[in-house]
Amino acid sequence: MKFMVMNGPNLNMLGIREPEIYGKDTYEDLKALVRAAADERGVEVEFYQSNHEGDLVDKIQEAFMRHFDGIVINPAAYTHTSVALLDAVKAAKLPTVEVHISDVSKRDDFRQVSYIREACVATVMGRGFQGYVDAMDILIDKLGSKACDGAACQAGADHE
Ligand code: DQA
Repeated sequence: MKFMVMNGPNLNMLGIREPEIYGKDTYEDLKALVRAAADERGVEVEFYQSNHEGDLVDKIQEAFMRHFDGIVINPAAYTHTSVALLDAVKAAKLPTVEVHISDVSKRDDFRQVSYIREACVATVMGRGFQGYVDAMDILIDKLGSKACDGAACQAGADHE
């Protein structure tokens, strides 16, 4: 199994950026944690971070073209604004889990909107970096328990 682990704007600033919300650990620490968990699970991961919406769209399309099995994505601020990312996930039809380090449900009103959520099989929030590992486990579970033909995975029936 091969997952694309994607992060949106300002997540390269983890450790520096609002540590009281996002913690003191860096983006490199995040990658190390996720890679170790992926190794334990026998899963391949590729990481991508960008501050640019179109680059994130390109990467989602690339995940489709290169036959990845799933996507873990923290779209960061683009969660709350981007129809383009929603459309990209719908087009790619890969099982996708939305992750937020913080619990966005308890934050500003403008963070209550997630455009991408309807195309995701699950959302994990407020679990810190562990949320990315949880997201991988959700994908492993989904992909292992049933053949995921895209359409079924897009339905979001058991969105968590
Ligand atoms: C975030 C939450 C978003 O509202 C915010 O814009 C981010 C990070 C999170 O991981 O908690 O950049 O996605």
